[in-house]
Amino acid sequence: MVGEMAQGTWNAGSLAQAVVMLNLLALTDAAHKSDLSSETSGAVINHSSMLIHRLQELLQNGNSSDTTLRVHTTNSDEVKIIHAHQLLLSLHSDIFEGLLLNQSVLTLQEPADCAVLFEKFIRYFYCGEISVHLNQAVPLHRLASKYHVSALQRGVSEYMKTHLASESTQGHVVSWYHYALRMGDEGLQESCLKFLAWNLSTVISSSEWVTVSDDLMVSLLQRSDLVLQNEIELFSAVEEWISKNNPDVPIIEKVLRSIRYAMISPSQLFQIQKQSTVLATYHSSVQDLFFQAFQFHSASPLHFAKYFDVNCSMFVPRNYLSSSWGSQWIINNPARDDRSLSFQTQLGPSNHDSTKKITWNALFSPRWLPVSLRPVYSESVSGASQSNRLDEGKPRLVVTSAMSGLEFAGVTFQKTVLVGVRRQQGKVFVKHVYNVHQSTDEVSDFLVHADLQKRTSEYLIDNSLHLHIIIKPIYHSLIKAK
Ligand SMILES: *[C@@H]1O[C@H](CO)[C@@H](O)[C@H](O)[C@H]1NC(C)=O
Ligand SMILES: *[C@@H]1O[C@H](CO)[C@@H](O)[C@H](O)[C@H]1NC(C)=O
Ligand SMILES: *[C@@H]1O[C@H](CO)[C@@H](O)[C@H](O)[C@H]1NC(C)=O
Ligand SMILES: *[C@@H]1O[C@H](CO)[C@@H](O)[C@H](O)[C@H]1NC(C)=O
Ligand SMILES: *[C@@H]1O[C@H](CO)[C@@H](O)[C@H](O)[C@H]1NC(C)=O
Repeated sequence: MVGEMAQGTWNAGSLAQAVVMLNLLALTDAAHKSDLSSETSGAVINHSSMLIHRLQELLQNGNSSDTTLRVHTTNSDEVKIIHAHQLLLSLHSDIFEGLLLNQSVLTLQEPADCAVLFEKFIRYFYCGEISVHLNQAVPLHRLASKYHVSALQRGVSEYMKTHLASESTQGHVVSWYHYALRMGDEGLQESCLKFLAWNLSTVISSSEWVTVSDDLMVSLLQRSDLVLQNEIELFSAVEEWISKNNPDVPIIEKVLRSIRYAMISPSQLFQIQKQSTVLATYHSSVQDLFFQAFQFHSASPLHFAKYFDVNCSMFVPRNYLSSSWGSQWIINNPARDDRSLSFQTQLGPSNHDSTKKITWNALFSPRWLPVSLRPVYSESVSGASQSNRLDEGKPRLVVTSAMSGLEFAGVTFQKTVLVGVRRQQGKVFVKHVYNVHQSTDEVSDFLVHADLQKRTSEYLIDNSLHLHIIIKPIYHSLIKAK
């Protein structure tokens, strides 16, 4: 069973309002009159839940039905008959309105997964409420789109965006992405892509990975924000995807050329060159990239940059979780006070620098204020307003090198901060990715909605904030020596 755990319910505001209006017209005529005479003694008599109940009974019993829906399941002789009411169908759907102009019996064709939900879908027209499970989201969205029930369509789309991280046995985000692409729902598409990119390690190891389409694979591999252990993990996953899917040769060449070979150590490069069955076949498509990667490893990146263009994605690190690239930082009780952490990374991915390390100092402040806003300790400022001021501070993280003189022409060290939050069954998933040069002041939204003081904050896992800091050397092209 997929998605037993995650479901959502919402009300369609527009119907609820319409219902309340009908309700008040029908039932509070007398009250309304007295309202006019004296404003102060006015009251609302609210029977809207009773009205909704009656409307549902109308559907259940088919009383005064003026419309019959005959729902055929595609590729089956199953037919569902629903006795409905033109007024309610037309209220939500201009498609039904049009269909019902000159006929009262509608014959509809629906694929099996939609046909199963059809009664539930029609019930929504009568009460403005519907429950959704993970595996019902796509067929429900399809029905809402087909019949132009736009509030429901938006509602299901929103449900999908907020349930990407929900537990499901086969995974659902890849299929939701493909669906969003077909429907042209760009918001949902973007949310799915981000989720897949930021939790790629998990997706790679799930059965969902082989269902990734050619286009999705190509767009994922172009991203520099993929979160995964290291580039070799991505290469192995792409290799598996190729052997299970047998895509067309141009796609194979394109995805193999999207691997950032320079980010893989020379010994591992040598190994995959010898052992990979996919590379044995497509060796010639990536030969130039391998050669360039070996060259990159044999010189300092700055020396290399004099002769080759380093301003291309091959030399841009992704968000690697392995320890040579950065450090996890779990901050217990983060609202309490400032905390610091020291950690080491490699100087860069080039094998030329493999023995060189850099030490970094990170400082986290839960309520940091710029100097100009800090309380002045003078007689005139009361204690109360000082503590108010402190509450106004924002979380801030600064990462600096412990070594002085770490400024090389042509290199900047970008710091990427991943923020993890809890998902069902205790797993962590990446909620935010922030890229900064030194301090999170550079971005306006660092943990702005985190509510670190509240124990119930979505950002706290067992009262701890889960951060992961990644240090990425970014090389800039120097003027080429001729
Ligand atoms: C009427 O009652 C329903 C619940 O029965 C409630 O949701 C709705 O807000 C109420 N309307 C007003 C105008 O108070
Ligand atoms: C609806 O129909 C059922 C049975 O056909 C009947 O018992 C019930 O009283 C009807 N309700 C209304 C509100 O007319
Ligand atoms: C009215 O019904 C006929 C068939 O019964 C159909 O061809 C025609 O398109 C319908 N017109 C409208 C406006 O729905
Ligand atoms: C690097 O490439 C990007 C686009 O590929 C371009 O916008 C940028 O100007 C280039 N930078 C340098 C220093 O060449
Ligand atoms: C998301 O990614 C994080 C690390 O990036 C991983 O620990 C977690 O298990 C992933 N969760 C999901 C739901 O993919």
